[in-house]
Amino acid sequence: MNIKTDISTDAVLTADTHLIQSFADLNLLKQDGARTVIVGAEGAMVRDSEGNELIDGIGGLWCSNVGHGRREIIDAITKQLNELDFYSTFYNFTHPTAAALAEKLAELAPGQLNKVYFGNSGSVANDSAVRILHHYNNRLGRPKKKKILSRIGAYHGSTHLAIAMTTPAYSVGWDHVEGLVHHLKSPHYWREGDGMTEAEFCDALVEDLKDTIERLGAENIAAFVAEPIQGAGGVVVPPEGYHARMAKVCADNDIKYIADEVVTAFGRLGHFFASQDVFGHTPDIINTAKGLTSGYQPLSATIVSDEIHEVISRPGGMFLHGMTYSGHPAAAAAGLANIALMEKEQIPEKARVTGKLFENTLRGLADLDIVGEVRGSHFMMGVEFVRDKETRESFAPEDAIGLKLARAAQKRGLIARPLGNILILSPTLILTEAQIGQIGDILRESIADVSRNL
Ligand SMILES: Cc1ncc(COP(=O)(O)O)c(C=O)c1O
Repeated sequence: MNIKTDISTDAVLTADTHLIQSFADLNLLKQDGARTVIVGAEGAMVRDSEGNELIDGIGGLWCSNVGHGRREIIDAITKQLNELDFYSTFYNFTHPTAAALAEKLAELAPGQLNKVYFGNSGSVANDSAVRILHHYNNRLGRPKKKKILSRIGAYHGSTHLAIAMTTPAYSVGWDHVEGLVHHLKSPHYWREGDGMTEAEFCDALVEDLKDTIERLGAENIAAFVAEPIQGAGGVVVPPEGYHARMAKVCADNDIKYIADEVVTAFGRLGHFFASQDVFGHTPDIINTAKGLTSGYQPLSATIVSDEIHEVISRPGGMFLHGMTYSGHPAAAAAGLANIALMEKEQIPEKARVTGKLFENTLRGLADLDIVGEVRGSHFMMGVEFVRDKETRESFAPEDAIGLKLARAAQKRGLIARPLGNILILSPTLILTEAQIGQIGDILRESIADVSRNL
């Protein structure tokens, strides 16, 4: 692994007292040993400042899809910076790399999703989709058609608007836009199914959508936003047929369907995009980020349909939305090189096989006493831990079960992400069978270890 070895952990941690970490318990972080300094990465592995080699079980943050240290992407970024370090895509300016990436995304995206707005994060992609649809409805003379339907358990980002679309649990003690977003029921069958069959549960979710449309009025609702599989809300796979049925109700009511594919795109579920190939429907907008560049550069894309674009490009209005770094040359170069690598190495296709093996390996943990549910698909998995397997009683927050398990796994060479009573695994898509087996073994040992000391 090509890394610096002369890094002093203490020096980094001293400097780091000036850095505010994201989604962190800032009080806990004041304690020594609560932070890990990552200094190098290659392939599916990262290395910390103490010299420990760890399997990157969270793929950076659901994003290092092709793995770390890929020369092809690093070289493409360098070449781009040497040719054109920066120019914006504002006004009448453009540049070859952003144009080529937009064309490539239009080719990969399903249906009539042919127009691309670039941003620099998943949050911005979601904000952009909402702003574009609000403007679209203004253009159509429907100024009241603005509300957004989201869901309990959703995660759509951290800007003031995206956090309003996110499940309320993510903004405890924080503010968000009021009155704009309505949260539909969670699609989590195992927790919310309540004696229903999965098909009945799906019916109930569709009814919830219909009732909400009736109550709020379709003339007031711009869009429904949904992750194909909820990620940071706990890796929740909806019941069979859910997305296509929800999409049909939306279409019948002239409500746009925004698929938040920030996590699920670029091979994580075995396809470039999951909406059509995995869930059988074509949304009106797909938002993506993360795996778009495999994290080598910050970049997001809001991919909109020809129909939406036709309305917002009619004479008599302006596209008054833009970020300086939209379509940044280095980020666009990273996106193109990343996609080229995925195509050359058939990474999404291979992920259909290795991702299934990964999924099944994790499902094998279901026999353990404190494992309540193992859920997810391919390289997007969550394991929920329970105090009582029969009643599904949760651990209390003070048990810090996820955190204890993540620490036990890290001690054994695996980074996993704790989320309350859940461990999330979203590794690189290039894991070998041996590494997948190793992850299964580490998790089994870690769970046994933590269980013994409960
Ligand atoms: C589904 C989903 N949407 C949006 C976001 C926000 O992306 P970003 O953190 O790049 O703003 C995330 C981040 O994890 C996500 O998982």
